[in-house]
Amino acid sequence: MRLRGKKNAPELLATLPTLVITEPEQHKGKWSQVFGDDRPIHVELGMGKGQFITEMSVKYPEVNFIGIDMYDELIARASEKAMAVSERTESSEQHPSNLRLVRANIEFIENIFAENELSRIYLNFSDPWPKKKHARRRLTHPRFLEKYALVMNDWGEIHQKTDSETLFEYSLNSYAWMEYMMKDISLNLHRDGIHEEHIMTEYEQKFFGRGMNIHRVEVLVGEAALKQHREAKKLAVKKQPMV
Ligand SMILES: C[S@@+](CC[C@H](N)C(=O)[O-])C[C@H]1O[C@@H](n2cnc3c(N)ncnc32)[C@H](O)[C@@H]1O
Repeated sequence: MRLRGKKNAPELLATLPTLVITEPEQHKGKWSQVFGDDRPIHVELGMGKGQFITEMSVKYPEVNFIGIDMYDELIARASEKAMAVSERTESSEQHPSNLRLVRANIEFIENIFAENELSRIYLNFSDPWPKKKHARRRLTHPRFLEKYALVMNDWGEIHQKTDSETLFEYSLNSYAWMEYMMKDISLNLHRDGIHEEHIMTEYEQKFFGRGMNIHRVEVLVGEAALKQHREAKKLAVKKQPMV
């Protein structure tokens, strides 16, 4: 079934029970069983039409991916992408086996995942909520970061991309408030052109196409992620200091 307008999105979703999870709370603490293995789980919060998460699932088969959004129509669009990438790779599967799409409100993320269940959270072009009175709605408000910390494991990292300078500035301060280590901060990710390894989101393509700078940061949340970074830093400093 193909998506024709908004109306038949729920019908399309119902035809894809292995890909689309509409009652994710049932799987809290049991996502490894959903995937059938213990691979690390990376989640995109607010995946939109799903280009990023579907392409990531093909590129990194050693990782399990979950895309979350709150609208049926967007989940349906992402499902179509998931099926299209499977066709492109000539897989016999209807969709990448390491990908699930979840309809949920991020506000209640702690009802979907148990402690230590996630290794990485992607925040791609989250709504900037520029007015001060809406600051609590920003997905990098400390109240959200507290929730993410709860569900992420020792290897936990947050990777954020945004076109919004104000959201980026706000987010860096939130991470600092949480006393997180940040690395690979960029104010203009595509300064030297698009790296072929880089998987773009729909919004990224749109904003980059308009000549806007894309900001990016990686945030180390878990102790093991931090330790690994410290070890790597020791080696790098011996060879060559940061340029
Ligand atoms: C600006 S779009 C970015 C989409 C995609 N990540 C991209 O970069 O192309 C933000 C997305 O976040 C979703 N979103 C915002 N708040 C949400 C919430 N509380 N729960 C689930 N999804 C949310 C919206 O529905 C929308 O699809």
